[in-house]
Amino acid sequence: LKEEKVKVTFILCDGKRIETEGKVGDTLLDVVVNNDLNIEGYGACEGTLTCSTCHVILKQDVYDSLPEQPSDEERDMLDLAYGLTDTSRLGCQITLTKQLDGLEVLVPETINDARS
Ligand code: FES
Repeated sequence: LKEEKVKVTFILCDGKRIETEGKVGDTLLDVVVNNDLNIEGYGACEGTLTCSTCHVILKQDVYDSLPEQPSDEERDMLDLAYGLTDTSRLGCQITLTKQLDGLEVLVPETINDARS
């Protein structure tokens, strides 16, 4: 059985595009970690929903298409992120599906570690 790859592009605030891929079932945080992506400060709490450094901004249609809406815990943490938008999510809470192939996410300029 072939592993299902999902292409993901991270767009940094300086316009740099990082094109990479993950597997179905990975979170966006897994993608950053597994591919050693150099995104400063990203995912500081390792997906335990205590930091908000994994904040990403999605396109509206992608945001709407996600099967899971943010949990209360995720919303609370998002409130602490800088540059919050209506289509913000935490990358550690987004799980890749085949439908998300070609996903593009924007990594906002300032990363706030809610723990500090
Ligand atoms: Fe810390 Fe997602 S990695 S909240």
